Amino acid sequence: MYISGYNNLRNRRTLDVWLTIEGESATPPNFMKIPDYIKNLPKGYDAPIYKGLKLKSSIDRFLKLVGKGNVIIEFGSGTGRDADYMESKGYKVVRTDSEKEFIGFQAEKGKKVLKLNLKNGNTLSFKDMNAAFVSCVFGLFSWSDIQKSFNTIFQILRHNAFFYFNVPCEWAESDIIIICKSGGFKINKIIKDAVWYHVICQRKLLFIKHKA
Ligand SMILES: C[S@@+](CC[C@H](N)C(=O)[O-])C[C@H]1O[C@@H](n2cnc3c(N)ncnc32)[C@H](O)[C@@H]1O
Repeated sequence: MYISGYNNLRNRRTLDVWLTIEGESATPPNFMKIPDYIKNLPKGYDAPIYKGLKLKSSIDRFLKLVGKGNVIIEFGSGTGRDADYMESKGYKVVRTDSEKEFIGFQAEKGKKVLKLNLKNGNTLSFKDMNAAFVSCVFGLFSWSDIQKSFNTIFQILRHNAFFYFNVPCEWAESDIIIICKSGGFKINKIIKDAVWYHVICQRKLLFIKHKA
């Protein structure tokens, strides 16, 4: 399993598109295997690589909307850097990930990570969660997998729950609007920096059109 590194979100092909074209046994450019990714991830948001970026300030904005003490479900929590930060600010985080290496890495730090593959729908019995968080995950996914993920997240959240996610800044803003709207989410704020679009949106009811 390859994983995007923090410095290569500019790669325009998503990982699965690249592997489909080049073959599963090829090594994608600028992608790392999970142990290298873990080794190379900067510690904390004050690392030089984050200078001028708006990751921390966007998360802070999201947390304020969620309200202290509320539970946030995180998908693709990886090394747990964001969950650790959110917990340090007084929030409860349900950590989930699809990869056993990341689940094992966090288990060594005493953190429980539930196994959930966003592309396969909700395999957990969660419902009516207050908030969801997905960082540095959708850049790895194809458009249809992102749609499946939105569907999973929609099912897990309660009405009006807040959802933070980021996507590479090469995305068109119109695509962010389409993915949110078709997934049942109303955009609260889009913040752009040199690497990401940070999006905060809110789950709304999906209105089904009936034939006259
Ligand atoms: C680039 S890492 C980002 C980790 C973490 N969110 C962060 O920002 O530090 C991508 C994460 O997405 C997870 N991931 C990849 N495919 C996934 C899927 N289908 N369902 C859930 N998580 C997935 C990976 O295991 C990994 O933890």
